Amino acid sequence: MFEGNRVTAHTRSRYPIFQSPMTWIARAPLVSAVSAAGATGLLENSIRSLAVTQREFAAIRAATNQPFGVNLPIRYLQMDAREEEAILDWLLGQKIHFATTSAGDPTRYTRRLKDAGVVVYHATATLRGAIKAVDAGVDGLIVEGAESAGIRNPEEVHTFALLQAVREKVDVPIVAAGGIVDGRGMAAAFALGAEGVTMGTRFVASVESPVHANYKQAIVDAPITGTTLMDNPPRARSRGLKTPYAIAVADGSRERLPRDAVLDRLYVQGDVENTSGAAGESAGLIREIKPVKQIVDETIAGFWREIDRLAALRSSR
Ligand SMILES: Cc1cc2nc3c(=O)[nH]c(=O)nc-3n(C[C@H](O)[C@H](O)[C@H](O)COP(=O)(O)O)c2cc1C
Repeated sequence: MFEGNRVTAHTRSRYPIFQSPMTWIARAPLVSAVSAAGATGLLENSIRSLAVTQREFAAIRAATNQPFGVNLPIRYLQMDAREEEAILDWLLGQKIHFATTSAGDPTRYTRRLKDAGVVVYHATATLRGAIKAVDAGVDGLIVEGAESAGIRNPEEVHTFALLQAVREKVDVPIVAAGGIVDGRGMAAAFALGAEGVTMGTRFVASVESPVHANYKQAIVDAPITGTTLMDNPPRARSRGLKTPYAIAVADGSRERLPRDAVLDRLYVQGDVENTSGAAGESAGLIREIKPVKQIVDETIAGFWREIDRLAALRSSR
């Protein structure tokens, strides 16, 4: 179905769809459901714990025999050089075939991963970062537009312009991130030069996502203007749900919570108002909490519907 697609050739998955790596969320239940559905689940490793990596990796392997990948968030891992080395070494020992790197200097892991036979995609939100990653030897890019959820770079550009700018300058396959929740968004990304897409917010609001039901419902309820950017010193910003907490942090009347406090208050206890869960502008396009398989199947069916609709324009010329 996706013959000749370089992303599926690299991931060995049926479909060129990734589930974005997300702290605490992109672990065994979600990753294995995504991979079992034919897309590529990516195991997050941002808390720098070899024990967690080992436990989640084993749980994914036990749940599905379908291919999955791992994400290595460079800046977070390098905060603890010993654990960084232990995690990298252990994963290579597992004969992983596909890894994404993000949040940091792409030269740090690329050569070592590639020497071990691993296919490497690097996530970046800027044209400069894309060119640097290609120069470092990555096999593909994840190009994240500014409408994406989570930590954002103040310099970044939205998906529509960024995909075209990167496509013009590089030859490696591109996976588009930001603003995509279905087959229509996927077809649009392909038109702009992508060969795959990744979705974060859409999978947070899935049945298999481990977060509290209130967080999923807040994504479903969010209007298209339902996210905002908060400062996240020293230089990054982050996009999350526009809650009373987010508005107060943005106007300086409230202290920002540390990451672990958000995990506990929102992900576990479901306190939406006094936190700001990461969410992309895509939240405004999500209408329902759905099982992962339904999300993937509908995305693929919708993609081909859009391709047919566009192809039909030709016969009406
Ligand atoms: C809840 C959540 C947590 C995220 N955490 C991370 C993270 O830990 N590291 C990272 O590189 N990106 C993170 N992201 C961003 C995603 O990798 C991806 O770029 C983004 O979700 C794409 O936009 P979308 O949410 O509209 O699909 C997160 C996104 C969400 C929704």
